Formats: sequence, structure tokens, C-alpha cells
Amino acid sequence: MQKVINKDFKTLNGEITIPADKSMSHRAIIFSSLAKGKSIIKNFSDGQDPHSTLNIFKHLGVDISQDENKIIINSSGKLSAPIQDLDCGNSGTTMRLLAGLLAGQNFNSTLVGDKSLSKRPMKRIIEPLTLMGANIDSDEYKAPLIINGKPLQPINYVSKIASAQVKSCILLAGLGIENNDITSVTEPYVSRNHTEILLKYMGANIEIKNTTVSISKSELKPIEIDIFGDISSAAYFIVAALIIPNSKIILKNVGLNPTRTGILDVAKSMGGNIKILDKREICGESVGDIQIEYSELNGCNISGEIIPRLIDEIPIIAVLATQAKGITKISDAQDLRNKESDRITAVVTELKKLGANIDETPDGMIINGKTQLTGECEVETYHDHRLAMSLYVAGLITQKPIIINGFEWVDISFPNFEQLFNELKQ
Ligand code: S3P
Repeated sequence: MQKVINKDFKTLNGEITIPADKSMSHRAIIFSSLAKGKSIIKNFSDGQDPHSTLNIFKHLGVDISQDENKIIINSSGKLSAPIQDLDCGNSGTTMRLLAGLLAGQNFNSTLVGDKSLSKRPMKRIIEPLTLMGANIDSDEYKAPLIINGKPLQPINYVSKIASAQVKSCILLAGLGIENNDITSVTEPYVSRNHTEILLKYMGANIEIKNTTVSISKSELKPIEIDIFGDISSAAYFIVAALIIPNSKIILKNVGLNPTRTGILDVAKSMGGNIKILDKREICGESVGDIQIEYSELNGCNISGEIIPRLIDEIPIIAVLATQAKGITKISDAQDLRNKESDRITAVVTELKKLGANIDETPDGMIINGKTQLTGECEVETYHDHRLAMSLYVAGLITQKPIIINGFEWVDISFPNFEQLFNELKQ
């Protein structure tokens, strides 16, 4: 689908509620399906990725129904053998977390994905799971993953990358091991920790020490959870308000877990006028409203421990940096090449078309601003929802309209993205 972005408004103003967090939606379904009893998930994400996870658990024999805005899960606490392949769609989180869970079951299963997911690296999870005794066949470490379920052994795994998907995969494998054996994962920096927080909240034996998380066999209690808004979705509005003159907006009910708020730290360090209002807690997670005003910005360096805290926001941070005075250098972000697209090459190629002064490096990019983006061109989304949304925001400040090819990929995470922008346009 082609989308033409016109500058048919003057500024952004008003309040919107940000839709549900994707990472939390996946985890709420997975952990509730393992908890004996009735769980209720309110405000479940309407993105396609979390729905891939939900559908898979139906195929694993879990009773899942929907009542208005609620997902109701009645689980025996046990999964049953699927009679068909389990389709993860575009979702890396679904495939990597479920590989860990399914490797230790007493049945076989096959995880498949779409074209983009089938190209993404699975060695990062197959390797540790194999060390735990798992039997997983793949085509050179790519999906489909054919899992011959069997009892696993514990591991103390030191991961080279800070990845919540790798960490959660191993923790889910460890959670099922009998005999109270402890499995642990250590990562170089702390990646998003929703798995740890939610499992603890549901009664799991889980311990966190610095960058190491340990787990052993646990009975999970069912939950009632109201999923808060996704800071990764809020990021597009945060950046748009910072770069569109005279904007002032409030984003309601956004998750503020410190392992996800790198975008706020970066935007503030660039001079962004951002305030947190009404901070509160939901199921052990920080939540609040974010107020953002148009600001004069300066470039900055982004590297090291902050990278996992803003990994999904780098495409939209690149757009922000085109409007900041001076150089913004992003490094230590080589894993961006393994996302839904090679996000380093894709972002640099497409923002160059719009007139940005941006160059690729092996592990990131260098942006020199402030540049008036020109537009009057077609840009590509590489089957990547975050590229589509970042280019939309860039298109709001170009001198001439732009055409985005493949805009439908937005639905992977954020079906009402454009509608919410329209509510703020004045
Ligand atoms: C996610 C972890 C991150 C992130 C992805 C969601 C999760 O991936 O990019 O969008 O929910 O665990 P990595 O663990 O590969 O960094």
C-alpha cells in the first residue's frame, strides 16, 4: 500500500492514549497459559505480532476467549501437542520465546514464520538450548524450527549480546526443568526485564543480581493485568512533537520501565522538553503520562549500555537527529542489522533520499544536523513496521510530500497509528 504524506496541518496538540505494550502482551499470554486457573488480560495489543502468540497458544490447547476488550485464559497449566505448524508470522519475540518453552515439552512442534522472520538469526537461541540438551532442527539456524521436545538440563549461560529474547528464551526453558535445578543467564548489559518482573509477580522462583537472572521450576499464579501503553509506540509521537514547531502533547498511560526509557534519556540530553506526569505502578512496572513540547535540539553520542534500552527506537531517533544541531553518533548497535530489516542500511538509505546528512557505520550511523528535509520522493519500508512509522514522522516535516511504499507494515505493531496522529494534528 502506498501512502502519501502531506503537510496538511500546522502543529500537534492534545492528548492521546498510547496502545498496549507488545512485549507485555506476548508475555501476558505466554505466562498466563502456564498458570493453572483463570487469567484476565485487559487492553491486549491489537498488533499482529501479539496475536500470533495468542493464536499459537490456542493451538497448544489453551482455552483463550475474548470478551469486549478482555482476553480470558482458562489454563490447566499444561500445554498439549499441536496438530499443525505454529505460525509466528513476523514476530521474532514469538519464535524465540516459544522455542525455549517448547524445547522442554513432552511433544514435538514446528515454529514457522513469514519471509522476513525466516531470514532472521536463530543461532543465538538454538546454541544455548542445545547446550541444555534440546533437539532443534533448522536450516542453517533459520526458521522453520523443528523442535523434538524432551527434558532439559540447567545451564549458566553467558550471552555475548544483551537480548531480552535470548534471556527470556533460556528462562522459559529453565522454568520447566524438574528437581529445583537453577538455570541462569548473564548478559553484557541489562536488556528489557518484563519477563523477570512479570514472572516474579506471578510467583516464580526468580532472582536478579546485576546482569544475571536465575530461575527454577515454579508454579505460576494466574493474573489479572491491564496492559499499559508501549513506549516504543509512544516514541513516534515524542519525536514528532519535539521536531514540529509549536507542538505540545500528552501521551497517556505509557510504560516507563527503566530498561525501555533510553529514548527519554536521549531526547532530554539533546535538549528536549519532556515531563513525566502522574507516575504510578501496574503489576510491578512503572507507568505514567508523558508531556512533550517542541524544542531546539543538539546532537549527542549514543552507545554502550543505553543501546538495549532504546534498540527499537533507533530508526525514529535517527529522524530526531536530523533536526538536532551538530553531530549525533550512534554506535554499538550492530544487532540492528538483525531486526525485521537491516535497520542501519535501511534507515540511512531512506533518510538520505529525504535529504538528510547521514552515513552508515558498521555498528550504527552518524547524522549531521540540522537539515531541512526536502521530500518529493518515494521511500521504502523493507517489510519493517518501524521503518514505515519513522518515515511517516519524517514526512511530516519535509518541504514537499513523500510517498511511502509498503505502509501496511505498520499493522504489525500499531494499527491505529495514523488515526492517533490525525487526532493531534491542528
Ligand atoms: C523484544 C526484545 C528486543 C526487541 C523486540 C522485542 C522482546 O529484541 O527488539 O522488538 O519483547 O523481548 P532483542 O531481544 O533481539 O534485542
